Parts: sequence; C-alpha cells; structure tokens
Amino acid sequence: MHYPYQITSIEQYQKEYQRSINNPEEFWGEVAQNFVWRKKWDSVLNWNFKEPKIEWFKGGKLNITENCIDRFLPTMADKPAIIWEPNNPEDRVRVVTYARLHKRVCQVAQMLKNNGVKKGDRVCIYMGMVPELAYAVLGCARIGAIHSVIFGGFSAQSIADRLEDAKAEFIITCDGAFRGNKDIPLKSIIDDALIGNKLVKKVIVYTRTRTPVSMIKGRDIWWEDEMEYAETQVEKDGVVHFPAEEMDAEDPLFILYTSGSTGKPKGVVHTIGGYMVWTNYTFVNAFQYKPGDLHFCTADIGWITGHSYIVYGPLSAGGTSLMFEGVPTWPDAGRFWDIVDKHKVNILYTAPTAIRSLMGFGLEPLQNKNLNSLTTLGTVGEPINEEAWHWYNENIGKKKSPIVDTWWQTETGGVLISNLAGVTPAIPSWASLPMPGVQPVLVDENGQECLPVINEAGASITSGNLCIKAPWPGILRTTWGDHERCRTNYFATYENLYFTGDGALKDDKGNYRITGRVDDVLNVSGHRIGTAEVENAINMHSGVIESAVVGYPHDVKGQGIYAYVIFEGKHFEAELTSKDILQTVSRIIGPIAKPDKIQFVKGLPKTRSGKIMRRILRKIAEGETANLGDTSTLLDPGVVDEIKAGKL
Ligand code: WT7
Repeated sequence: MHYPYQITSIEQYQKEYQRSINNPEEFWGEVAQNFVWRKKWDSVLNWNFKEPKIEWFKGGKLNITENCIDRFLPTMADKPAIIWEPNNPEDRVRVVTYARLHKRVCQVAQMLKNNGVKKGDRVCIYMGMVPELAYAVLGCARIGAIHSVIFGGFSAQSIADRLEDAKAEFIITCDGAFRGNKDIPLKSIIDDALIGNKLVKKVIVYTRTRTPVSMIKGRDIWWEDEMEYAETQVEKDGVVHFPAEEMDAEDPLFILYTSGSTGKPKGVVHTIGGYMVWTNYTFVNAFQYKPGDLHFCTADIGWITGHSYIVYGPLSAGGTSLMFEGVPTWPDAGRFWDIVDKHKVNILYTAPTAIRSLMGFGLEPLQNKNLNSLTTLGTVGEPINEEAWHWYNENIGKKKSPIVDTWWQTETGGVLISNLAGVTPAIPSWASLPMPGVQPVLVDENGQECLPVINEAGASITSGNLCIKAPWPGILRTTWGDHERCRTNYFATYENLYFTGDGALKDDKGNYRITGRVDDVLNVSGHRIGTAEVENAINMHSGVIESAVVGYPHDVKGQGIYAYVIFEGKHFEAELTSKDILQTVSRIIGPIAKPDKIQFVKGLPKTRSGKIMRRILRKIAEGETANLGDTSTLLDPGVVDEIKAGKL
C-alpha cells in the first residue's frame, strides 16, 4: 500500500493546497483514482450552496466495503485490520485480519438480507465497542443499507426519537456493554425505546455481557444464530463470497444524529464516494499514516470520530485500527498507556478532555510506561488549552511526537483544519492550516469578511465567525427527511457560505485558532449538546416552570452545564429536587446531558419581548458578576441581583 497523495513537505502542502483551490475537479479526480470504482464518475463536482445541492463523483459506482476490505485481500489478507482491546485487561485480545473482516462483513450482509434488509433501508446500531459493531456498520454498507449508529450513552427516549425520525425498521444491539466497572443494559434500553414503536421489524442481539434480556418472538433474534446460518450461505469450499451491492457515489452511507441550537437533534447524512475519499485523504495526510502503523483512536464509534478514524479512514487505507472497549481510568488511570505499550501503538488520537482528566492523576500512572512506539499524537473535539497540550507533548510524546490538533465536525465528515504531523508546524492550541480543498473565511454578523487587527502584542489577528466558501468531498449533503433544515442551519446564515457555528482567530500566516461555538451549542467533554435540548428535558419535570441552560468553563470537561430553573411544584427540597431533575434529563436525553449545576431562581432575565438574555446568565455562570453589560432593556432588572446572590 502506498499513498501517492500523501503530502511530505511544507512546500508540497502549499503547492497542493493551491492546486486544490484553483482546480478542485482535477485535484479530487486524481485522488479518487486511487480507489476501486465499478464505473467511473460522470462529473467530479456539481454544487450550489443556495439549495444546497452538493454532488461529488456523481454517476460513479462503487461499494465502500470493497475499498475498505476486498481490494486488500490479494496482498494482505493476513494483515490485522482491527485489533480489539477488551474492557478488562485480563480478557483476551482479538486480532481481526483483513480476511477475517471480509468473512464477518459478508456474514453480516447475508444475515441482514436473510432478515429482509434491503438497499436504502435504515438500520439503527446501538452496541458497545466490540468488533461486531464494526462488522455491523460495514455489513450495512455492503448491502447498501444506511446505518445510523447511536452512542450507548443515549437514553431510550433519544433512541425512540431517532428511530422515528429515520423510520428505521431494523436494530442491531448487544445484551449489554462493559464500560469500566459498569455494565450497561443496552437491550433493555432498546426495549424501552420500542414501546409504542410500530416500524421496527427485527432486533438482532449480540451477546457480550450475558446479562438477562427479554426476547420477543418474531422480533428479537440472536446475532450468533443468524451469523452461524449466514456462514453456511457465504462460505463454500473455504471461499467466502457475498456480492457487494453496486452503489452510486451519492447514495447515502449513513445518518448520524447530532445536536444543534434547536431542541431536536438532526440526522446528518453522508454519502458514499465523497466521504470515502475525504476520510481516507485526511487520515493519510493529517496523521501521516505509514503502512504498518497501528492507529489508536480512543473515540466511540457512536460519534463521527469513530466512524471516520476507527472504521472508514484507517480501513480504506489498508491500515490497522485499534478498537478499545473500555474507559481511560479503569482499572486505573494508566489504561491508555498500558494499551500503547502492550500493542506498540504508533498514532494516538484522543480528546483534550481525556488528557485533562488523566493529567489530574499526576505522573504516577506513567511510571514504568515506555511509550516509545508512539510517533504521532492527535487531539479532537474541542480547543486544547496550552497546559494540556504541553503535558501531552512532554509526558506522552516525549517531545518527539508531533501533535495534530484536528478541527472538524459531524457535518464535515473528516478533518478540515489541522497541521500535518511533522510536515507543517504544530502551534499549541491552534488547529493551524486548512486541509487541501478547504477554504475557510472569517465573517462578521453581516457576513462581511473580517479584517485583521493589530493586537496588544503587535500581531495581526483576524477574528470572526468561521465559514467555508466551497464544498470539500466530505461535507454533509442533507439532514435526513428535512432538507430545508439543512439549508437554514448551515447555508442560510450567510449567503453562499457553509457556517460552522464556531468562532475563530486567524494569524497573518493563515493559521486558525478555534475559539468555540458562537451558537447555543455546548461542548461538554468533546460531546455536542444543544442548550435548547437540555432545557426541553429539564422542563419535562412536572414541577418546572421554565429553565435556561448555559455553558461555563470546566477544568476537565472544557464546558460544564449550568441550569437556571424556575420551580413551582410541590415538595420542593433543593437537593432532592435537583436529583429528580438530573434523573429526568438522564431519561429524556442520557447521562451525558446532566447539568453540573442547578440553580433555582424566581425569574429569568428577559427582554420586554420575552427573550431570555443568555449573555447575562453566561457571565454569572462564569463567575463574572461585576461587568454584566447593558441590563437596561431587561423587563425586571431585579432578577439579576437575585440570581447573582444565589450563584453556585
Ligand atoms: C464541534 C463539532 C469532530 C469530531 C468531534 C466533535 C468542536 C472539534 C475541535 C478542535 C477546537 C473543536 C467545534 C466543532 N471542535 N474539534 N480541534 N479545536 N474545537 O464533533 O460533535 O460534531 O462537534 O467540536 O466547536 O464545531 P461534533
């Protein structure tokens, strides 16, 4: 395996970047030639951001699993595709070669077919981090079904909403999932999600924890039985075969739900051809992946990071991906470092929140850890503070491994802004330069391009809302079932621009520093949560009249959730009521959305037109009480003093 499109010097980066902007069709047409197409595309790119309509490699026919598996079988059937490290370090590691992966994916495809799944059907996947999750994802792709993976931390209610929105008819789940010393009853959560659901026909259950599960006749079936039968169908005389469905480059590959500024998560849709090219290109370039490297992305496949950099990026590059079932702090805070040494990990890709949390344990968990196999480090999910960056660089990378700070989003499919490991400079807390094909621009509220300003240090800095001028192959195509929502969310704020929702700074060398969301979206431990979503959940509690949720700086999580709640129910008892509200939020969204602080208030600061002035609430939550800005437009300025006095 060799990647002719891998950039190896800063000069080459500059040349390639220019070429990708001057002639994107030629540029991406060339990159795309490194993949297996059953039929070549009719056109590389058609687009307008007005509708929006975005098509890459339209008319091209392919199957992404042939690109992630089959094409490697002749030369590297025995090479590990996935190395699986279980939750409990004493349990057996599983090494899945490309040949084994091929067989399992063919079996899953056959199993799905046997159960009535057809091209274009939506299959919801709610599993722990077991290799079977990767088989399930790829098995869907092989028969052209659209997978929608839901992270195991979401509640039954969240699953029910997503099933309904996607009109999913099939579910693949596990009896339970191990996470540290916890055992999460996934099937039982699915059972709750299915109360009242009339669309789901089949639930396939993989056994992981052997926790008791209910199995409903005609609907619930065991993965093991189905796979065993499928094996007899796909394997003849030792030869495994399940024909991959021929797909158009623009057919949907998956739906992944993510939070926005409204109360309802949206189903981000990625299509096959562009997503494949983008995850592969960014994987090979940002991490500077070399054949034989072991790549360890610590994310869960329930998030976009896992989709792109555990499954599709590494596998489409014929790489080896380490998949980890557990958590960084169990059995102890040295777990990541033990895994690095045990498997000789080369590339470690994790989140700033994990680094900060591990920093909190000091250097003791690093004693007797070698970490010499590491060549490259990466971060993703939120801005990395300088302290965490230096800790990572000194103690994990031993100052010899470049760190890539990769900025991107569920909607972007893969990395948009990042240094290229060891090729372009790393600047602590700066995501730095755009990938080839990416044209960022910083605009003000009116959509005017921002101009540089000389700051106190004498540096020329531009500050504004981060937008992108033109499509790259991995951009989202629509939001499932509601194209208008996609338009208004991303393409209507500023004419002819994709709006990211992030604010950023830019220096005079063209480096970007992401400063955080400028909309009502929080980033808690690298997870995206909409304030409106949390408010809706809090308001479901019977005694709550109204609530307002804001973020505040949190040492480990990056942002914490601060909720101001007006409560008029009976039986008020601050501590107990807070716990009831947390339970409610857990039920409605999931434990990841639980507020860190709940302050009961008598009123919320509102304008005369009834709009909550979040700016004030944010300042108070941040601990700023003196300088709250203009409060003269408030209906009742008195509430502000009351809120300040009660700050937690
Ligand atoms: C939001 C997207 C992309 C996978 C994980 C999160 C923030 C992401 C960085 C970074 C600063 C970052 C942004 C973005 N973000 N990476 N390197 N530096 N901020 O995906 O859930 O879609 O969230 O995460 O605010 O908009 P997501």
